[in-house]
Amino acid sequence: MDIVIRPMNVDDVRTIYEVQKEMFPADHFYEEYAVFLNKFNLYPIGCWCIDRVMENDKNKSSLENNKDKLVAHIFTHPWFKDEFPQLNNSKALLEGIDSIVDKSRNYEIKNHLNRDNIVIYLNELGVRPIGRGYNLGRILTNHLFQVLDIKEFSLVSVQNSSGFWKSLGFELDQNPTEQRKQYLAKYYGEDACFMKNNTINKKIQFHSNLQQIKSLIMNIKSSKL
Ligand SMILES: CC(C)(COP(=O)(O)OP(=O)(O)OC[C@H]1O[C@@H](n2cnc3c(N)ncnc32)[C@H](O)[C@@H]1OP(=O)(O)O)[C@@H](O)C(=O)NCCC(=O)NCCS
Repeated sequence: MDIVIRPMNVDDVRTIYEVQKEMFPADHFYEEYAVFLNKFNLYPIGCWCIDRVMENDKNKSSLENNKDKLVAHIFTHPWFKDEFPQLNNSKALLEGIDSIVDKSRNYEIKNHLNRDNIVIYLNELGVRPIGRGYNLGRILTNHLFQVLDIKEFSLVSVQNSSGFWKSLGFELDQNPTEQRKQYLAKYYGEDACFMKNNTINKKIQFHSNLQQIKSLIMNIKSSKL
């Protein structure tokens, strides 16, 4: 499959909202459109997509075309170290990110905050079933590692995906409090766990994926996106 990795746009947000059940079938993962829009609007530089390359179908609307092509997406944003936002809570997301980043300075971390306490939270990675088996999840995550200035990452692993995240250098939270365990189980599912990246492993992953990433970057340039 030929692919293009590119920044997310507002059409993608609508598509991702409409196909969310393909990737997150359980009802408790459902999120409102406003939440998706906030994820994108509050930190667009952390939101990326992968399209499969297809012949253009001129009879289709741009949204239909978008839905055909988009195979993977990632939403990320800065968040407080060792914390994670509530699911489907647009207000909490807005207030949290707004208190961290300065939109007028290209989404830089606000001056008064200690940068050591801020990480990039991988809010949502999804590869549609049609795109699975091509390494797209790893390619997109590695791309994020490359393009963002902040190099500390965290996430909540759901749907038994912790093995996938370990392959990218993430480690399980070793000593979660009882409160955190209950919260995760209640809102994210019994298997959910908080994970953080290990910088030493991450370097190894960078290295092994370097060739792939270089060819992707060439792809981006040639596609004029
Ligand atoms: C999890 C997900 C993002 C992985 O993306 P992907 O493109 O399918 O995976 P990749 O091709 O990049 O990586 C493949 C590797 O990850 C492993 N992997 C993929 N999904 C996995 C999972 N759920 N649990 C454990 N390992 C997994 C594969 O076995 C494979 O390992 P190998 O190279 O040793 O054979 C994708 O399956 C998905 O979107 N799932 C539904 C949404 C989801 O659960 N997202 C994660 C939320 S935290």
